[in-house]
Amino acid sequence: MTKNIFDKIELSSGKTFENRLVMAPMTTQCSFHDGSVTDELVQYYTRRAGGPAAVIVESTFIDNYGRAFEGALGADSDDKIPGLKKLADGIKKKGSKAIIQLYHAGRMGTPELNKGRRPISASSIAALRDNAVEPRTLEADEIEDMIQLFADAVRRVIEAGFDGVELHGANTYLLQQFYSPHSNRRDDEWGGSRENRLRFPRRVAEKVRETANELGQPDFIIGYRFSPEELEEPGINFDDTMYLLNHLADHSIDYFHFSMGSWQRTSIIDTADEELLLDKYLNAASERLKEIPIMGAGGIKSVEDAEAAIHSGFDMMSVGKAHLINPDFVNLLKDNELPNSFLTEGDDVKLTIPAPLWNILGFLKE
Ligand SMILES: Cc1cc2nc3c(=O)[nH]c(=O)nc-3n(C[C@H](O)[C@H](O)[C@H](O)COP(=O)(O)O)c2cc1C
Repeated sequence: MTKNIFDKIELSSGKTFENRLVMAPMTTQCSFHDGSVTDELVQYYTRRAGGPAAVIVESTFIDNYGRAFEGALGADSDDKIPGLKKLADGIKKKGSKAIIQLYHAGRMGTPELNKGRRPISASSIAALRDNAVEPRTLEADEIEDMIQLFADAVRRVIEAGFDGVELHGANTYLLQQFYSPHSNRRDDEWGGSRENRLRFPRRVAEKVRETANELGQPDFIIGYRFSPEELEEPGINFDDTMYLLNHLADHSIDYFHFSMGSWQRTSIIDTADEELLLDKYLNAASERLKEIPIMGAGGIKSVEDAEAAIHSGFDMMSVGKAHLINPDFVNLLKDNELPNSFLTEGDDVKLTIPAPLWNILGFLKE
């Protein structure tokens, strides 16, 4: 039967998405200096909830020393729970599921952002970017502590009323750093072989589900976002990604979310290869993995785009920039109205876009 963008979809842990479109996680950089929720943040998300089946709140750090940028949102301490609750309540009252994306920046952090602390990672290999600081290698017992930090953050967002979390295994943050042969050069059980590099993301996923179950939330949604390929050498190739996903499929993940700028993306490593990454995925997915919904991303601006992506094989699509420009994006599609493609002067106030985000959106302005 042909899938429709307004069809419901049931997730394996028990919750239902009312349609196939979700608001993509997008960093707004407008939290308080300690990472707690501002009123602006609540207004911005509440304004955009209601149409999409779920709102995935932006990347949120799990550790006081794990920020990737200024104004980042945090779930690293209990005093943040009341603010996070305002956020979850605002989204849920409008009728969308509230999901929050969790990360640790690892080697993508800097001492300036993290109270002078040197960043940490799987190994002491600096990221390939200007001014990257060489991280300190985590000791084995610190890795166990890090897994617990993810669990503690999950407990906080459950107390705040979120329906689920998205583990941020993309954007070269810590989960990806453990899996990548570029950033992980360890020779203990946490590194070396692909099987060992998989151990950290696998243990985090297991622990998160265990935590939700212990807190009486067996239907808590757990998504996992991944970057399909890395340009670093050595780096993650698509075969590695399929190995990761085929194994994570055994750990009660509710959806896997591609991180890419276009849902029609092909390989960035082998640019002569014209096969869509989506088709590579569908060909290489195990029977178990095929049971788990996949969420595509990138470039959805209209009902035609969304339908084409779903008919190509994605089960759901996340929509980012179109939600910045059109807070009622999904409802516009439902009503057969044309969404806008650009922002114009004054939209920051009209569309409730916080100033730190507005200031970096020059590329979307007419
Ligand atoms: C301003 C901005 C902030 C973003 N922040 C995040 C983030 O916090 N986490 C993440 O996984 N992706 C982030 N992304 C990527 C989006 O989730 C999305 O995948 C991307 O924008 C492509 O989808 P689109 O064409 O619908 O915008 C961000 C994108 C934008 C434009």
